[in-house]
Amino acid sequence: MLKGKHIVLGITGGIAAYKSVSLLRLLVKAGAEVQVIITPNGKEFITPVTLSALSGRPVISEFFTANTGQWNSHVDLGLWADAMVIAPATASTIAKMANGVADNMLITSYLSARSQVFVAPAMDLDMMSHPSTTCNIDKLRSYGNIIIEPAAGELASHLVGKGRMEEPENIFKILEDYFRRHATLTGKKVLVTAGPTYEKIDPVRFIGNYSSGKMGYAIAEEAAARGAHVTLVSGPVAIKTTNPDIEVINVESAKEMLEACRQHFDDTDIAIMTAAVADYAPAECAEVKIKREKREDTPVLKLVKNPDIAATLGAMKRNDQTMVGFALETDNEQANAEDKLQRKNLDYIVLNSLREPGTCFGTDNNKVSIFSRDGHRSDFGIKPKSAVAADILDIITSDNIQSLKSE
Ligand code: CTP
Repeated sequence: MLKGKHIVLGITGGIAAYKSVSLLRLLVKAGAEVQVIITPNGKEFITPVTLSALSGRPVISEFFTANTGQWNSHVDLGLWADAMVIAPATASTIAKMANGVADNMLITSYLSARSQVFVAPAMDLDMMSHPSTTCNIDKLRSYGNIIIEPAAGELASHLVGKGRMEEPENIFKILEDYFRRHATLTGKKVLVTAGPTYEKIDPVRFIGNYSSGKMGYAIAEEAAARGAHVTLVSGPVAIKTTNPDIEVINVESAKEMLEACRQHFDDTDIAIMTAAVADYAPAECAEVKIKREKREDTPVLKLVKNPDIAATLGAMKRNDQTMVGFALETDNEQANAEDKLQRKNLDYIVLNSLREPGTCFGTDNNKVSIFSRDGHRSDFGIKPKSAVAADILDIITSDNIQSLKSE
């Protein structure tokens, strides 16, 4: 899985730096091209000579190479990397990453990296449990970085507790697993709906809802990172996509969203419906602004039912297509979700509950359960929407692999 992959290995100033040599050897042996960036403090623990001999590339540490004056471009490295691994990551480096303190080559490269970043902290147990560190690590998680949790054991200080960098073999396995999963959607076409819909009352007013689009955008990014070409049909939201393999179609109303989905559905392998579609729209949209002064009475808004996009596509679905819906429930959660799965002819339904504080609309986290058509239920803990997106795609793709195997 790692053959030909471009890995930036960041090494910082901790005793565990010696373990990075084993990680480097494993990566090179697996056929990866590894560019080591070491912080100035890292060089106190391990010599660049060892690292360049093993990686077959000059080790980068400074913004300029001293003897030639050559500028080391962090932007180029950020674009070159298929993955970035910072192991060991000290408390200081983690704090700089969390807060964008770009005073060395490793941090500038981190800030320029478009690839997945893996962080393997290593430090003394009290530093590890300090609120400053836990807060910074939480920030990195919220940026979508993957934290490789340190193990508990005897530390360099001879104290015993959590802070030992994960073993190189395990970090290597995590990377292998990442690249294995990320090849799963190569060549596939994924359709995602996201955000709210706005249903016009007059030229300046609409019926809408609080959906931020974050969950749908996270799914679109994750699917594109796994090799899919993604069509994202988005209601009005304030976020932007980053992956060039995502084609965004901006719509406003449910009718426009349905029309855009219809046009692409035939060519879709997987459709994931995260949009919070308004169930009703005003029966008529006034051509000019409805004025208060001109009316004596209190206006009554007549509503008509909007099309059900998921159910419409579900009725068109072929056997080789997979459809996923979302259900936001306040009561009878499982029964309501399963009913929607059947009614809309979906293959999976992702249930998020409004009862869970700090999740759903507008937040960065979500807590979901996924139900499949064949009666399986998977429950997940509260996590960033990017990680929820990965869980959803893991389930769909592993089930597809299993059903292909059994055919
Ligand atoms: N959905 C859709 N079009 C609609 C309504 C919902 O495509 N007009 C999709 C949503 O994107 C989601 C799923 O259907 O994937 C369930 O949405 P939800 O709002 O929970 O269900 P409703 O069918 O609107 O049912 P209710 O409001 O009664 O809970």
